[in-house]
Amino acid sequence: MDYNALFSRSAQVMQPSPIRRMTGLVNQPGVISFAGGMPNPSTFPEHDFKAILDDIVETDGCRIFQYGVTRGLEEFRDLLVQLLAERGVASRREQLMITSGSQQGLELLSRVLLDPGDVVLVELPSYIGALACFRNTLAEMVGVAQDEQGIIPEALSATAARLRAEGRRIKFAYLIPNFQNPSGITIAPERRARVLEIAAEHGFLIVEDDPYGELYFRDTTPEWLEPIKARPGGEAVVYLSSFSKVVSPGLRTAYIAAPEAVTQQVELAKQAADLCTSSLDQRLIFEYCRRGLYARHLGEIRDFYDAKCRAMLFALDQCMPAGVRWTRPKGGMFVWLTLPEGLDAEALAMEAVQQFKVAFIHGAPFFVDGTGRNTLRLTFAKESADKIAEGISILGEFFKEKISKL
Ligand SMILES: Cc1ncc(COP(=O)(O)O)c(C=O)c1O
Repeated sequence: MDYNALFSRSAQVMQPSPIRRMTGLVNQPGVISFAGGMPNPSTFPEHDFKAILDDIVETDGCRIFQYGVTRGLEEFRDLLVQLLAERGVASRREQLMITSGSQQGLELLSRVLLDPGDVVLVELPSYIGALACFRNTLAEMVGVAQDEQGIIPEALSATAARLRAEGRRIKFAYLIPNFQNPSGITIAPERRARVLEIAAEHGFLIVEDDPYGELYFRDTTPEWLEPIKARPGGEAVVYLSSFSKVVSPGLRTAYIAAPEAVTQQVELAKQAADLCTSSLDQRLIFEYCRRGLYARHLGEIRDFYDAKCRAMLFALDQCMPAGVRWTRPKGGMFVWLTLPEGLDAEALAMEAVQQFKVAFIHGAPFFVDGTGRNTLRLTFAKESADKIAEGISILGEFFKEKISKL
């Protein structure tokens, strides 16, 4: 049987994640890994979860093992209304929807918003998991440049004008404003306001993906991170956030805040996708927040990742040769490196992990326009400060040698 002939047009454009492809090599014993994008498991609150689990099995009995409503637990959505209000986002329970991770939110939004040939504007670079959702709908992704202040409004405006002049239909711009995966870049406040204006001018939506916003470091004030959705004119923004990076990604619990008409449509898509998000996962996270444990935990993990980020930036300052540039994130989990033109980070990633047992992810797959071959992503989430120093020192020597041969 020719199975390939059976696959849908959508199936034929699906691509394996380059990160997953590296997983086998990265997980070998002794490898210092700056690859992957997972939170550090030592931050997961296993003891609190055990206590909560005991309590809810005792009080709720079998109910927590039952199906739930598609939109998610009512009392949890009420709690999220308050949590969003603390970020400046005004919402009502009817506008909120719990999803099985933000990844599902992105997939459902793609399904309800995109037809083949529609255009999605994305940052250069952008999150691979979202690009996969957009690609699978046969939409076209068009990249917009960013600098250290985030997406460049003039580039966004010029790209939108050009596409509209060509008769293309732009459905939305997908933005990760805080400590972006993969670049670690944050969109400056004045640009957030400008982006809203441009979207209104050209009649497209903004999908604001914010799984890292709570993970800000010492030097950052939360006001600086005010969501695009919280700004005047931001009511139409579709905002996603998740408990994956800040509590646990194994409990697949995230949420969307959107105009009610969008939430209703996403609900229909979710009914077909999985009926509902795990009742148990939702209950655990809900109780974790309700008991005030989430707020305390956030303080702890901000310090935890801040220390690791400082260790990585210090090591980069000490060890990287001239010609290498990198971002200085104020939160999140990632630093982004740009090597001199002519170096191929994919080949270097293979060589570094095989010969020196240091792993990172090459940058090209995060770009939709075929650029970025000389870029790479480092996460500081996994390794200790000592291992970060050791790994960066090895990479510094490695890149120095490669640059000397250019
Ligand atoms: C920018 C971004 N959005 C969404 C996700 C998906 O997260 P989850 O589905 O675990 O909520 C990730 C995970 O790496 C991410 O980096």
